[in-house]
Amino acid sequence: MTRKLKKFAVIGHPIDHSKSPTIHEAFASQFGFDISYEKLDVHPDSFGEKIHELKEDEFVGLNITLPFKNRAFEISDGVSEISRLTQSVNTISFKDNKIHGDSTDGQGLIEDLKLNKINLKGMNIMLLGAGGAARGVIFDLIKSQPNSILLHNRSVDRAKKMIDDWSFHANKENIHLALLDVEEIKQFDLVINATSAGIMGNDLPMPIHLFSSTTTYYDMTYGSETAFLKEALRVGARTLDGIGMLICQAAASFKIWHQCEPDVKKVIKLFK
Ligand code: ATR
Repeated sequence: MTRKLKKFAVIGHPIDHSKSPTIHEAFASQFGFDISYEKLDVHPDSFGEKIHELKEDEFVGLNITLPFKNRAFEISDGVSEISRLTQSVNTISFKDNKIHGDSTDGQGLIEDLKLNKINLKGMNIMLLGAGGAARGVIFDLIKSQPNSILLHNRSVDRAKKMIDDWSFHANKENIHLALLDVEEIKQFDLVINATSAGIMGNDLPMPIHLFSSTTTYYDMTYGSETAFLKEALRVGARTLDGIGMLICQAAASFKIWHQCEPDVKKVIKLFK
């Protein structure tokens, strides 16, 4: 008897750049699994329709990327706690003819930081951005028990709203969550860039005077040297880009679908 090929895909708009098929195929080959994993560019007007079509077509799971993570949350029949809190879905599983949504972005970031021997407990962190990417990771950051998280965003109102939304969880964990005061010189252990400034014109998403050689700079984007990483390198600081996070969030999706944990280090090596 031949085994049925399990079908997966990543959905986005655009999607050409996606490395998800290569990552998932590399994971699957570690276990000898037979999978197909496609990239599907879906027009925003037909997103919901397409998801239902893939469900009918017996796909096992989907990864969801920009700009659909919130739409995927809205159309899911059930979601995990982290998706409910972040209103974001990057992993869909089809079970019993239903759409189940999960979000592995925050986990991906934390796992990659761990792989790089960065323990967030007690750290002073600056998080840049207040869009979907920043919202997608803040809960996992809070749960990692840093000492403080200061937010900075181009539009201050969005950062303020984010603080309002997450203060309850930060207070519960006894973590200082506040807006960055750009006039105050502060030392950070870690600065995480969750803005799309590197993609949209390559602007610097934080004040230049706050770069320091003793801070680690993590850019959640990957594939190009952003102004953020360039400036960090210029001052002699440690830098990390988002490729490890991408592979670790994919590993968490893989575990949801296949119930086994791939060796992420091997795949990270492949990409570096
Ligand atoms: P994503 O889902 O990638 O987070 P988003 O929700 O559109 O996308 O959010 C993009 C984030 O990058 C926002 O924090 C945005 O700042 P604003 O809230 O002020 O729009 C930030 N961003 C985008 N381009 C930027 C730039 N050139 N400089 C600084 N921040 C930028």
